[in-house]
Amino acid sequence: MQVPTSDVAATGAMRRPWATAAEAASALRAGRLVILPTETVYGLGADACNDLAVAAVFEAKGRPQFNPLIVHVQDAAMAARHARLEGVARTLADAFWPGPLTLVLPRMPDSPISLLVSAGLDTLAVRAPAHPVAQEILTDFGGPIAAPSANRSGHVSPTRVEDAAAELGDKAAAIVDGGPCREGLESTIIAVREGHVAILRPGTITPDMIERAAGLPARIEGADARPTAPGQLESHYAPRAEVRLDATAPKPGEAFLAFGPGAPPGLNLSPAGDLREAAAHLFAYLRQLDASGVEHIAVMPIPEAGLGLAINDRLRRAAAPRPERRA
Ligand code: TXA
Ligand code: MG
Repeated sequence: MQVPTSDVAATGAMRRPWATAAEAASALRAGRLVILPTETVYGLGADACNDLAVAAVFEAKGRPQFNPLIVHVQDAAMAARHARLEGVARTLADAFWPGPLTLVLPRMPDSPISLLVSAGLDTLAVRAPAHPVAQEILTDFGGPIAAPSANRSGHVSPTRVEDAAAELGDKAAAIVDGGPCREGLESTIIAVREGHVAILRPGTITPDMIERAAGLPARIEGADARPTAPGQLESHYAPRAEVRLDATAPKPGEAFLAFGPGAPPGLNLSPAGDLREAAAHLFAYLRQLDASGVEHIAVMPIPEAGLGLAINDRLRRAAAPRPERRA
């Protein structure tokens, strides 16, 4: 196993010795980000219940959209506290956890996991990683860890600690070395449907393996059948109320979602004008306004830069005409 050191000197070397699992757990408790090994690829982890930490993950990755993140749990018991793990899904968890299988499950309404983790969807993608170091961190931390692959948006997933450090080392308070990833390919993502299992992302747990364990046919969902794939307009949270963007002030009958200092009164995504705070509040505030029964929501302009790109992506989806309204 040859490990190149010269090309990581600028970023990775200064972080050696790598952090321990205990240091990573305390960084997570402090709301910081950590790079952690899993058996598939390295992840950029955050406390899944901390809105600001989760927003920092999107910011660090430079994602122009809020793709939902995978929630890492210690085991099925921890998963069941946050998502409905029953029937065939439970059978599959028992068969493949800990391991590289991610289950898309209905979210428990009382789960404290940040709404930003699931990009406002009513589902959570959950997996129990098999890597002993990931397990050690989860045990010490004691709660769910949201972690996408530890690469910048558009780059390939890192499978060695040096690669992860070179990608996102400057964003992480702790980088934990777990050696080269055994699987090297992101986990298989599935959703249990009526009478079959949908494979949303193929991985090293194959359709055959899933069919045998589930006793149901498993099929990879094609481009024309991806109801829960991220980035699909209809799959992301859209409030019931109609949304008007780039509003400087509310019109009569509109609830106002403000941003920044000196804004007109209303719910303010970030009175300080901090995009990370705004991202952390976005889905929760839209839901709060919806729950208040308003018919119209006016939203102030958000700067089209950094995390603002992702916030605006979601706001445009929320404001897009919906089929039932076009009639
Ligand atoms: O192997 C892996 O799964 C790695 C390691 C770190 O665990 N993680 C990973 O995360 O690949 P990420 O963020 O790069 O990929 C997460 C994908 C999203 O792109 C999305 O397709 C899917 O998981 N996903 C997450 N939540 C979902 C949901 N509620 N419904 C449907 N798909 C979801
Ligand atoms: Mg990824």
